[in-house]
Amino acid sequence: MAHEYDAINLSQGFPNFAPDPKLIELVTHAMEAGYNQYAPLGGIYSLREVISEKIESLYGRTYHPENEITVTVGATQAIYTAIAALVWPGDEVIVFKPAYDCYEPAIKAQGGVPVLLQLQGTDFSIDWNSFSNAIGPKTRMVIINTPHNPSGEVMTAKEMLKLQSALEGTDIVVLSDEVYEHLVFDGELHQSVSRYEDLSNRSLVCASFGKTFHVTGWKMGYCAAPKYLMDEFKKIHEFTVFCTNHPMQRALATYLKNPEHYLGLSDFFQRKRDLFLGGLKESRFTFTPSKGTYFQLLNFSAISDESDIVFSERLTKEMGVASIPISVFNKHLEDHSLLRFCFAKTDDTLQKAVEILCKI
Ligand SMILES: Cc1ncc(COP(=O)(O)O)c(C=O)c1O
Repeated sequence: MAHEYDAINLSQGFPNFAPDPKLIELVTHAMEAGYNQYAPLGGIYSLREVISEKIESLYGRTYHPENEITVTVGATQAIYTAIAALVWPGDEVIVFKPAYDCYEPAIKAQGGVPVLLQLQGTDFSIDWNSFSNAIGPKTRMVIINTPHNPSGEVMTAKEMLKLQSALEGTDIVVLSDEVYEHLVFDGELHQSVSRYEDLSNRSLVCASFGKTFHVTGWKMGYCAAPKYLMDEFKKIHEFTVFCTNHPMQRALATYLKNPEHYLGLSDFFQRKRDLFLGGLKESRFTFTPSKGTYFQLLNFSAISDESDIVFSERLTKEMGVASIPISVFNKHLEDHSLLRFCFAKTDDTLQKAVEILCKI
């Protein structure tokens, strides 16, 4: 619809600005240097090594590059492969709603059963009683996502510890979608499962270079997990993908060596969030500033009592700003008059969108 109505597209989660030219140069250089044939199954060793060092320095857990890290076709493939490797027909998988859209189809494709738990309140927190009640003999996996798409919330250390203790004594596996790990605002720290020993021993972490380096079209990511889980993961990876884009792996292995390339991202995107929200103070939308990701929710209940789908369609067609209605991510399509806007856009695009949104 954004295309059809020539609207400013703040709906999908991708930047409308260029990645670092140095990264592109590194890919070109790798192609010219002849890295144009298959890479090893798990990814080139130097990339796995630098991923391992990054995780260890940020979160304190060591994943062995030899057998605990696999480079994937974006986080989407890591997520699908983890589910295909570990979920069997009849297994239950707990998914917190609103949820990113690729989890449930992957679970169903394996004959698994998604058990949907709605996050509660304006801060989208986990209802721990419902969570404990949802755990049963068939529970195979829990999927978490922090920083969280679409809400922009982040899990706290306290919540991670609660999750860790709620799973104690079970053999439940955690799939931790951490694609926005480098986009956490206001001085908070990303709570990776890798910070928590018991949790990380049962977790597969899925990450995305596309999200981190403004190159979503490259579809490069990775999965990190203890060997016993990674062994299963690789059984599917070998015969569905085998290996990912080789020259891009070479480029990322070099680029990732400089932590400045990812440690500055929180400030970069926080400034964009603040630019967007600063302008919207004059509008009739209400909001809580996003704590992570590059998404911001806006509540339009002071403007219209239409459904979020109808309102967002009208916003696209009549006003020229495209967003995503949150009900589509919710259990029973619950509608709380919320729209998701992506602020990974140039300042100019954000300012134009703000001007329109302030007139509504
Ligand atoms: C929460 C979440 N997980 C996974 C993905 C997919 O990441 P990738 O593009 O690396 O496959 C996205 C993309 O929007 C996302 O928002």
